[in-house]
Amino acid sequence: MRRTIPVRVPTRPTSGPSQNGQSKGTLEAQPKAWTTRALVSAGRHASPDVARILNGATNFLETGRMLQQARIHTPAPLRSRFAVFDVAIERAQSAANPVYLEFGVWKGESIAYWAAGLRNPGAIFVGFDSFEGLPETWTAGAQRGAFSTTGLEPVITDRRVSFVKGWFRDTIAPYVVPAHDLLIVNIDCDLYASARVVLNTIGRRLEVGDLLYLDEFHDRLHEGRAFHEFREESGYHFECVARSAGATHMLFVRTR
Ligand SMILES: C[S@@+](CC[C@H](N)C(=O)[O-])C[C@H]1O[C@@H](n2cnc3c(N)ncnc32)[C@H](O)[C@@H]1O
Repeated sequence: MRRTIPVRVPTRPTSGPSQNGQSKGTLEAQPKAWTTRALVSAGRHASPDVARILNGATNFLETGRMLQQARIHTPAPLRSRFAVFDVAIERAQSAANPVYLEFGVWKGESIAYWAAGLRNPGAIFVGFDSFEGLPETWTAGAQRGAFSTTGLEPVITDRRVSFVKGWFRDTIAPYVVPAHDLLIVNIDCDLYASARVVLNTIGRRLEVGDLLYLDEFHDRLHEGRAFHEFREESGYHFECVARSAGATHMLFVRTR
């Protein structure tokens, strides 16, 4: 027997008066068409900054909406990402063998800060990076190749610090996470695809009590999106323990 798929024919907006005396067409269809036409006209006179600013505003709106939907409460904002790091470092002081894994190292500023703050001799700090920059364009200001150090690793004399050079898709799978009593994962790789690779693999290693930090959480199309997808797919629950303004730098603890 021939199988058929029912086709829904969209109804045309009507222009006749509705019960409250207003035209149905005016209420349901025209404002949208009018708005889009007006936006396109306005766009003809706008500088590239306008789209960038509006996209930024949408990022923060959507971040709030997603946090609300996920029922994640946020504490009062701290002044900088280093203040957020300090909260994590304070939590990690009592661990005998904390392992800190950073995805996105660049010149080593954040990994150096962590190593300087967490003096525990049993701590291990590992930074993953291609050192060739972003594998694809992130924003107008951070195109493919941005943050390249032409393959050079930062020089950090602390012997507890080491680097794994290469693309995450190649380096993470063979990497064996050292034994630890606290795992800290720092995601600062900006791109959705990069953050997803990390969360799908190393993210799954997070136990209850472990820490997850995202450096660009407010980017709804990149790190923010990767986090929410991971949370839903893994079923892991996270509480936000520290953050900077605008939910850009977010520190989570896994609670379930
Ligand atoms: C913003 S920088 C990191 C900044 C650093 N954490 C700091 O605070 O100074 C982002 C880094 O992520 C790296 N990166 C992004 N995606 C990657 C991937 N898939 N594999 C390897 N490195 C990646 C880039 O090479 C770049 O150095």
